[in-house]
Amino acid sequence: MSDLKVCYNILSQVYKQQTYGSISLTGKLGEAKNRDFVTRLVYGVLQNNVKYDYYIAQMTAKKPQNSAVILLKIGMYCIEGMDSMPDYAAVNNTVELSKEVGKQGSSGFINGVLKAFCRKKPALPQDGAQRLSVETSVPLWVVKQYIKQFGLQKTQEFLSCKPYELEHARINTLKTDIKGVEAKLDSVGAEYVEDPQCANCLFVRNGQKVRPLFDAGLITFQSQTSVKCCEIAGVKDGDEVLDMCAAPGGKSVYFAGAGENVKVLSCDVYHHRLELIQQYARRMGVKLNVRLMDATVYNKSLANAYDVVLCDVPCSGLGVAAKKPDVYLFKDKDQIFGITETQAKILENGSRYVRGGGTLVYSTCTLLKDENEDMIKKFLKQNRHFRLEEEKYFLPDGKGSDGFFVAKMRRIDK
Ligand SMILES: C[S@@+](CC[C@H](N)C(=O)[O-])C[C@H]1O[C@@H](n2cnc3c(N)ncnc32)[C@H](O)[C@@H]1O
Repeated sequence: MSDLKVCYNILSQVYKQQTYGSISLTGKLGEAKNRDFVTRLVYGVLQNNVKYDYYIAQMTAKKPQNSAVILLKIGMYCIEGMDSMPDYAAVNNTVELSKEVGKQGSSGFINGVLKAFCRKKPALPQDGAQRLSVETSVPLWVVKQYIKQFGLQKTQEFLSCKPYELEHARINTLKTDIKGVEAKLDSVGAEYVEDPQCANCLFVRNGQKVRPLFDAGLITFQSQTSVKCCEIAGVKDGDEVLDMCAAPGGKSVYFAGAGENVKVLSCDVYHHRLELIQQYARRMGVKLNVRLMDATVYNKSLANAYDVVLCDVPCSGLGVAAKKPDVYLFKDKDQIFGITETQAKILENGSRYVRGGGTLVYSTCTLLKDENEDMIKKFLKQNRHFRLEEEKYFLPDGKGSDGFFVAKMRRIDK
């Protein structure tokens, strides 16, 4: 089987069965001769999905069959994104692929569209929002919503940011310090730079060279925004902390390291994800209590018991789309409306577990106001005994920040 066929099979699975690229990649990647090539091509197609849909609509009289759409997208990415493949080879290889996957009937059509694409790409739309949607390959309804919230210029800026190629790592100060980690990274020749915004953090080129530091729990990969969310939560020694949606455990582990006498209860609704929290805690050398819990269901035994409650709720994940391009594939407004009900229940229940004077933190890795500021506004209106202390959007900046939202509230009755 050719590597292009592996790509075709993965993408067919992603589009038809609505499984995410990362998941089906791991299942089928073993069949590839060149894994890097297959990974790059699959992600390349997903990253350009909206743009290629637009090109295909402009270049064809009626919508082609799904299989032909996938073939065209593979061909377009080979032409645009694979410098090592000349245009004529990209077209020929895609035509051969159409035969290999049993779609020889469409090979003449594929050949014609891709040759025309090599000669001239369709013009971009004139309308600002539509143009930005195609240029950045973000669905139009998301772009329009962002423009409403942040204005055209800001939206243009953050949607055009490429993800930073170095990964954000937090030093485990229970085991080492930043100088110790830097000395080890220097000794293996790993590329890194200190994070000017977060203490004890660096950006590092992830790979084999840094793996031993990760395995030994000297560092962990935790995004800059996740670290900032933990800083905002302000957990101090002696605090009892409840992490309502904790897996894989990044924030719980941070809190447990914030003081010798911090007690953390880490909950998640999925049993298999609790094991991820346990592994994370073991690797980093901290102690957590871990419990299976559906955060949408009120648990009386936790009432008024915690100094800090974190609701890091499941969300549409649009703030990390630059790293996970498949988040745009099946998310429409209706799907998001379903998520907000779950989020509201988790926030409401979480608030009832906060002690008088305690802190309630709500966070998401998305930028849509329905899941963020609107949620907080509604909650505060119905819960006058909470006061907003801080509310913040983080926008992708190409220098390590993801799209993220945090709101910190204080319970003001005793
Ligand atoms: C954004 S992730 C949490 C990330 C985590 N706080 C961290 O920093 O590593 C959301 C988590 O919520 C969990 N989740 C989804 N629905 C839930 C529910 N009803 N109750 C509790 N956890 C839930 C998911 O399994 C997922 O692990």
